[in-house]
Amino acid sequence: MPAPDRRRPVATAFLVLAVLVAAAPALAQDSAKPLWSGRFDVEPNKALLAWGASFSFDKRLFEDDVAGSMAWAEALARANVLTPAEAQAIQRGLSSILERGRADAAFLSGPDEDVHSFVERVLIERIGEPGRKLHTGRSRNDQVGVDMRLYVRRRVPDIQQSLVAVIEALVTQAAAAGDAVMPSYTHVRRAQPVTVAHYLLAHAAALRRDVERFAVVRAEADAMPLGAGAIAGTNYAVDTAFLAAKLGFTKVVANSIDATSDRDYVSSFLHASSLAMVHLSRLAEDVVLFTGEEFGFFVLSDAVATGSSLMPQKKNPDPMELVRGKAGRSIGNLAGWLATMKSLPSGYNKDLQEDKEVLFDSEDTLMGSAGAATVVVRTLTLDRARTTRGASGFLLSTDVADYLVAQGVAFRTAHEIVGGMVRKMLAEGREFETLTPAEWKAYHPAFGDAVMQVVTAQASVRAKKTPQSTNPDAVNAQLAEIQQWLAGRKAK
Ligand code: ARG
Repeated sequence: MPAPDRRRPVATAFLVLAVLVAAAPALAQDSAKPLWSGRFDVEPNKALLAWGASFSFDKRLFEDDVAGSMAWAEALARANVLTPAEAQAIQRGLSSILERGRADAAFLSGPDEDVHSFVERVLIERIGEPGRKLHTGRSRNDQVGVDMRLYVRRRVPDIQQSLVAVIEALVTQAAAAGDAVMPSYTHVRRAQPVTVAHYLLAHAAALRRDVERFAVVRAEADAMPLGAGAIAGTNYAVDTAFLAAKLGFTKVVANSIDATSDRDYVSSFLHASSLAMVHLSRLAEDVVLFTGEEFGFFVLSDAVATGSSLMPQKKNPDPMELVRGKAGRSIGNLAGWLATMKSLPSGYNKDLQEDKEVLFDSEDTLMGSAGAATVVVRTLTLDRARTTRGASGFLLSTDVADYLVAQGVAFRTAHEIVGGMVRKMLAEGREFETLTPAEWKAYHPAFGDAVMQVVTAQASVRAKKTPQSTNPDAVNAQLAEIQQWLAGRKAK
């Protein structure tokens, strides 16, 4: 489903509102009566009602709303609020509505205020009087809570899968890169040689944390709010443990005021999405840089690149630029939502309706971006000549200093000596590779012939000794471990 456009400028929104207000008396009288119309003398202002309605976007909760209502009807029957015959009529009615809604997206439309009102209206149209009893002891305040929690719990596995696909693409590239080396960077300056696999697995590690973080979000949404009513609880002895089990929750929200005003799981979802987008954005930025002329470490597949309407030579990495750009949108959703929450008085407030569009938009943004990143990473081609060339030169300076340390020179002294060498060699346009044995010795008597063997990228990576290092054996162990993790996720 496409994300609703929430970014319409405010001015346009007011203009639309003004037109609607002006046109209000002329609007068709076909709008369904709101669920709450009994208390009011006059018809609600149609433009305002339409403006506050959420059905256009909360129809995405349709399945969850029906599932929640089916469980609620069963709980009401068990509490003897509904007769078995009434409960059966409701179940049958809701099943037929669910089937129809699943088969035909266009069915989910109408003048209704929200998806809850829609389902109740259609149910009453289909089964009559028993349908009018479904909302006994329930409020849309606890209903929307259960819908949102069911939705988050239902969608998280797909979101995790889209992130796993990016990880798989990175891991496949890492395995294919073998012992290829490249420069690593700090401050965007060449730092030390690393293996290409090591570099790729760093991005995989961040995304793997996102997969785990979404599991925490899913667990946070795991509490069943029905029985809270509007705020104070409900007068019917519904079995909330039964409801929780029926709907796949392992616990019940303990406090009815909290149950109707808590959206922490939405905040956590938006945070997890934003952080995953930050990680995808950093990957995207690397791909943009590393596939460009200046680095050229990887070649971007023609299939994922775009051209320029004016410059014939251009091959642009648009999809990765968009991923990078959309991270801002996701962060905006989180920041905006936290701002919505921060001053809410306790209990349900209509402001909470704002939870939906940001959640859906962040979900779509992340799924789309992960999909784009997967295709781009999968189709990257490594340019070993370029990465190898990039991994030579002064980024071997630490290895030269460590050579002196091995000869008994204190590290700080070694650092100063090699720093001085670099300064002089830069002035002379020289590199380590061009120094004669005599010239090495002139810099420090501890430099023996073996020093020439340490100043290669391959020797540099092999000299690393820690398990998290770029030593090819260590990287292979990291690779095997994440491959096992991926296989474990598949087995689930
Ligand atoms: N559409 C509303 C929402 O998303 C449903 C709950 C409405 N409750 C109410 N008391 N108006 O929050």
